[in-house]
Amino acid sequence: MKRIGVLGLGAIGSVMSRILVAHPENEVFYYTRTPKSKIKIQFQNKKIEIPIETEKERSEELDWLLICLKEYHFDAANDKLAKLIRANTKVAVIRNGIELKERITPFTTKENILECMIDCPTQPIEDNYYLQFRKPVLKVEQSELAKRFTQLFTKNDAQIIEVLDYKTENWKKLIESSALGSILCLTGRTCSVFENPEVIGLYKDLLREGIEVAKSDGAIIKSSFESEMMEKISTYSKTKGSSMLSDRLTGNIIEVNAKNGAIEKVAVQNKIATPINDTICKLLRQINQN
Ligand SMILES: NC(=O)c1ccc[n+]([C@@H]2O[C@H](COP(=O)([O-])OP(=O)(O)OC[C@H]3O[C@@H](n4cnc5c(N)ncnc54)[C@H](OP(=O)(O)O)[C@@H]3O)[C@@H](O)[C@H]2O)c1
Repeated sequence: MKRIGVLGLGAIGSVMSRILVAHPENEVFYYTRTPKSKIKIQFQNKKIEIPIETEKERSEELDWLLICLKEYHFDAANDKLAKLIRANTKVAVIRNGIELKERITPFTTKENILECMIDCPTQPIEDNYYLQFRKPVLKVEQSELAKRFTQLFTKNDAQIIEVLDYKTENWKKLIESSALGSILCLTGRTCSVFENPEVIGLYKDLLREGIEVAKSDGAIIKSSFESEMMEKISTYSKTKGSSMLSDRLTGNIIEVNAKNGAIEKVAVQNKIATPINDTICKLLRQINQN
């Protein structure tokens, strides 16, 4: 049996819990902030309820801890992280942003931490359920740790892709999602906003700033990336939104530091001028103050 903890039982924590309990060799422990007695999740028209016992006091070490928090939750979670991460506990950090090991290295060595990019649109619906739209696709750096992580899931429940150059993949996702997400969030519009050529121009400028910063951090971004991204937005449905837009519309905190703020941080460190992204960060932070 593998003892696996899931920290954070929101959208992604509920998805990961659902697929972890499906593996007969997993014993799953749940760690929440707001107490709950059940995980409720709907996938492929099936409603599933997983009864949970939270914060069960345990003396044994966890084999794995899957952290499914938002970037802005980490500061207040340090005590929990210190308690749950022991010498041999492997940690998977599943969230948006880059440098996902940074918040965990006070508690364990880098070798025990796996950074995971997840693609799995999931949103809250009525009656405290989460609606999971697709099977999760997780990208991780090719490693022995990634192989061990893959073994926690039954084959068909998640697609886990091991990539050779995680840094570059991670930067490409960040550049795209922060350029698109911030424009939709600040205009309060879906991708229909790209009917305006000025907005397309702004998107291109944001991509360019992001690419320069990514390169300064060692990411290998091919010259074709910009035109690929421009081509991609022309194919998007006018109704396509983004998580940043949803957060704004639902009044949730926008994950600035996992998106445009992550680019800003590296730009400052590496002295790269990013005037448009800087302005966007200020505006997004202003929305969070409202
Ligand atoms: N949802 C998606 O479709 C999606 C897709 C791809 C990537 N992501 C990324 O995945 C990450 C997680 O997102 P999410 O959508 O799952 O967020 P979420 O629904 O807000 O879930 C986060 C959960 O963490 C809990 N939490 C906060 N502080 C805690 C603490 N100290 N101890 C224990 N639990 C704590 C929150 O509890 P409360 O109930 O008390 O607030 C909440 O349930 C984010 O980086 C997000 O951008 C999300």
